[in-house]
Amino acid sequence: MNPTPALPPAVALQQLATAYWISQSLSVAATLGVADLLGAEPQPITDLALDTAADPDALYRVMRALAAFGIFRETDGRRFVLGALGGPLRTDAPDSVRGFVRMVGAEQFRAWAALEQTVRGGRPAFDAVFGDSIFGFYRHNPGPFAIFHQAMEDTYRGEAEAVAASYPFAGFDRVLDIGGGNGTLLAAILTGQPQLSGILFDLDDAIAAARAAPPPRCALVAGDFFQAVPAGADLHLLKHVLHDWDDSRCITILGNCRRAIADNGRLVILEAVIGPANLPDAAKLLDLHMMAITGGRERSEAQYAALLAEAGFRHVGSREILPELTAIEAVAA
Ligand SMILES: C[S@@+](CC[C@H](N)C(=O)[O-])C[C@H]1O[C@@H](n2cnc3c(N)ncnc32)[C@H](O)[C@@H]1O
Repeated sequence: MNPTPALPPAVALQQLATAYWISQSLSVAATLGVADLLGAEPQPITDLALDTAADPDALYRVMRALAAFGIFRETDGRRFVLGALGGPLRTDAPDSVRGFVRMVGAEQFRAWAALEQTVRGGRPAFDAVFGDSIFGFYRHNPGPFAIFHQAMEDTYRGEAEAVAASYPFAGFDRVLDIGGGNGTLLAAILTGQPQLSGILFDLDDAIAAARAAPPPRCALVAGDFFQAVPAGADLHLLKHVLHDWDDSRCITILGNCRRAIADNGRLVILEAVIGPANLPDAAKLLDLHMMAITGGRERSEAQYAALLAEAGFRHVGSREILPELTAIEAVAA
């Protein structure tokens, strides 16, 4: 995300510094669900405010500002339709990111506001602001946890199909997805691999949600990967799980995987890996998010290889699944 290069540096810096004015306006629009109320017919701001329990003047000013970014489009008489960029703000859009916008704009934004505490003290700002870790907070707040799972689906939509299409699953009997959320990845894999069965493993709430539409040939197991992971699979997957945790917690998770898998079993970590210095890299910003919110980090492939070795796995290679998703492969040594 570079500012427009032609701008004087001071103006470019101001644009970067005030980027949250835009992101918070977007977050409010997503929370109110205003895009869901817009169709082909322009809607008066008074109706939109009534339907979203908002102040008409304040809502008008937010939508007017966002219209300048193409989210909404203002027509005559303070009426609005969706703008060219507004579609994914709708709940029912196939490429919806409403859940993601809501997630980053709520508790996580409050934690980012305390980023300085993380930089000075090295501990996640989320814990300082909320007095609990993010997953501890989610355990006691099912509403935000449901938004988190929707955000994961919004963010990683397309990854499941890409993994299912490009990873060689032939030769495996049972795949365990650790921290597999609502089962999207296993559903994509198992649908295309009739020889394979699966185990979806996650916290209680995630497994309860997955029961509504479980992947085919799949056991649903609730538990805590810091205690143990289910045995019986010859392929373990960890997609966007290890980046939530510091090195010692990762080694605990990987150690529990090692105890559950037979010698020569395969473990695949799926993450965005940190690339070379100075180049634009979404993983480097995501790394800051992990630092402030979970206490985790994004890592280079060499850093993952070191964690694997500590836990009794041998790093055997990697393959790029998507530009921001690498499969780091290991064998139980
Ligand atoms: C960042 S999400 C990734 C979800 C999914 N693998 C994906 O790629 O969309 C991390 C997952 O780890 C799960 N999780 C967090 N703490 C856990 C624990 N102690 N035991 C099991 N699962 C946990 C969360 O519920 C969540 O589904």
